[in-house]
Amino acid sequence: MSRQLIAAGNWKMNKNYSDGLQLVKEIKNGTKDGKAKVVLATPAIHLKEAAAIVADDDAISIAAQNCHQATSGAYTGEISVEMIQSTGAEYVIIGHSERRAYFNEDDALLAAKTNAVLAGGLTPIFCCGESLEIRESGEHIAFVGEQLENGLFHLSPEDFDKVVIAYEPIWAIGTGVTASPAQAQEMQHELRKLIANKYGAEAADATTILYGGSVKPANAKELFSQPDVDGGLVGGASLKADGFLEIINSF
Ligand code: PGA
Repeated sequence: MSRQLIAAGNWKMNKNYSDGLQLVKEIKNGTKDGKAKVVLATPAIHLKEAAAIVADDDAISIAAQNCHQATSGAYTGEISVEMIQSTGAEYVIIGHSERRAYFNEDDALLAAKTNAVLAGGLTPIFCCGESLEIRESGEHIAFVGEQLENGLFHLSPEDFDKVVIAYEPIWAIGTGVTASPAQAQEMQHELRKLIANKYGAEAADATTILYGGSVKPANAKELFSQPDVDGGLVGGASLKADGFLEIINSF
């Protein structure tokens, strides 16, 4: 896959069934000839109908926010990649910091989930990012680099080529504090260098790396204009059609 611009909305645990589908329709109707691919990560209950709504529009895809690493079995409450794939969704967010923190998802589990997503023919959006404490210690670049190494660098070049990365500093998620465009660029440039060391310059150049953490209409344009920022993973600001459409049109 070659590098692409993506505006992804991560709804988290928001929107009931009808409100969610209404939002999908509003986004679809408001997205016109955008430069960026739009990805909507809805709760699992919306996946099938959301995918049906956008099925005739190549510019919009649906994502799950999580999956189980096993193909099937006695895992009450969990959802497999094959189930997600059967709804028409095309992406799966893996390793969001909320899953790492509240559901104890570690690098080894996230590597397994990434494998499952790729084996199922879907695209992982692999999240990484440091806490404020780690940033203040000055170890943030090494820390996030290690998350990539542990979660992704076991992949073959063919599989790595299918992965989308989202850098989301935890201190910027839902806090209203955005990483400055320079901070996002610095990290994402370093990550691309790491990818180049592992998979080669061409692969690094082809990798899509999103920024996430308090992206809003007012800051999207400047963030997305950084050379190593290929778009955003947007939480709170993706829950209202007008604001998210403004972000989509920031490219
Ligand atoms: P936020 O969330 O935009 O509300 O900060 C981003 C995310 O967690 O993906």
